[in-house]
Amino acid sequence: MKTLRVNIPGYEYDIVIGKGVLHHAADYFENKKKPAKILLVTDENVAPLYAETVEKSLSSVSQVKTVVLPAGETTKSMDYLKRLYDEAFDFGMTRSDFVVALGGGVIGDLTGFFASTLLRGVGILQIPTTLLSQVDSSVGGKTAIDVPQGKNLVGTFYQPKQVLIDTDTLNSLSDKEFFGGLAEVIKYGVIWDKNLFEMLEKAPARKDIMARIEDIVYTCCDIKRQVVEQDEHDTGLRMILNFGHTAGHIVEKAYDYTGYVHGEAVAFGMVVAARMGEKMGITVPGTADRIRALISNVSLPTDIPVEEEQLLGVALDKKASGSSISVILAEEIGSCKTVKIPVSEFCEMCKAVWNA
Ligand SMILES: NC(=O)c1ccc[n+]([C@@H]2O[C@H](COP(=O)([O-])OP(=O)(O)OC[C@H]3O[C@@H](n4cnc5c(N)ncnc54)[C@H](O)[C@@H]3O)[C@@H](O)[C@H]2O)c1
Ligand SMILES: [Zn+2]
Repeated sequence: MKTLRVNIPGYEYDIVIGKGVLHHAADYFENKKKPAKILLVTDENVAPLYAETVEKSLSSVSQVKTVVLPAGETTKSMDYLKRLYDEAFDFGMTRSDFVVALGGGVIGDLTGFFASTLLRGVGILQIPTTLLSQVDSSVGGKTAIDVPQGKNLVGTFYQPKQVLIDTDTLNSLSDKEFFGGLAEVIKYGVIWDKNLFEMLEKAPARKDIMARIEDIVYTCCDIKRQVVEQDEHDTGLRMILNFGHTAGHIVEKAYDYTGYVHGEAVAFGMVVAARMGEKMGITVPGTADRIRALISNVSLPTDIPVEEEQLLGVALDKKASGSSISVILAEEIGSCKTVKIPVSEFCEMCKAVWNA
C-alpha cells in the first residue's frame, strides 16, 4: 500500500493506493469524529461488484445508505443531482455527515459536485474504480455535471477528504475502458515522465501493466498532485494535462460523444498534437511516430477521420480565448510546453497533419 499526500493549503488530503484497500474504506475515520450517516453513491455496474465490500467497512463506523444510479455519462446531470439531494434529505443528513463516491469519473464528478453543495459542503471520500478515474478525475478536486449547453459546464473546485484507490477493481474493466484510461497514463509519460512512457513501450500488454499497476497509478497521481498543487484552479500549469485533448475533443464532438471513449479520442489527439509540434519545430522529430506506435500497441485508434468543418468548429471550443488558442505541445517524450497560436493557424495545422 502506498500513500501520497496532496498539499493544497487548508485542504490537505491523502491518496491511498493498494490492492484490496476497498475493504478498508472506513480506515479514514480512525481517530476522527465518526459521522452519524454516510451516503454511498455508486452506479449499477459497480454496485454488484464492489458496493457490499465498501458498505461492510463503512457500516463499522456509521449508518450507511447506498444510492445506485444508472451507469453512463447521462447520469452526470441535473436530474440525478436532484435525486441525490432528495436521497440525502430523506436520509436526514447533517453537515457533519459524509458522502462516498464509488465508481468511475461520472459518479466521482456528480457526487463531488453534490457533496460540495449539500448543506454548503459535506466531506467526501472518492473511491475511483476505473483507470481514468484513478489516475485523473478523482485527484485534483474538479467536480461537474453536464447541462444541455455542454459538458462539465456546471461545477466546483472541491477537494475530497481522501482518495482510496483499489487497483484490484481494474480487473473487472472491459479492455475498451482499461485502454481508454491508459491513454491518460501515456499522456503523463509524454508531458512529464519519460521513464513511464518507456516502461509502457517495453511491456504494453494488459497483464504487464497490471503487474506494475500500483506503481503506475502512484506515478500518475504524483504527477497530477504536483501540477494541482501549483495550479489548483486551472489558470496556468494545469493546462498541460490537456495535452492531446483539443484534437481529442474534436473527435468526441464529431462522433457525438458516442463513437469513441474519451481516452481513444485523446490517444489520437496526442498523435495530432505531436505532429503539429513537429511541424512547428517544437517537438523532436519522430515523437509523433513513437506515440502512434505505443497507442497502436495498446489497441488504441491511430487514425480517426473527421469532416473538415469539424476541425474548424474548434474556434467555438471553450479553450479558444479571443482569436488565439493555447495548445500544449511536447518538446520531446517527458516534457511539454504551452504555446499560444491564432485559432485560424491551429485549424490550418490540424487540417495539414490530421491524416498525415
Ligand atoms: N474531474 C476531473 O478532473 C475529470 C478528469 C477527467 C475526466 N472526468 C470525467 O470523468 C468521466 C469519465 O470517467 P470514466 O471514464 O471513469 O467513466 P464512467 O464513470 O462512465 O465509467 C466507465 C464505465 O465503466 C463502468 N465501471 C466503473 N468501474 C468499473 C469496474 N471497476 N469494473 C467494471 N466496470 C466499471 C461504469 O459503470 C461505466 O459503465 C467523464 O464524465 C469526464 O468528464 C473528470
Ligand atoms: Zn482526459
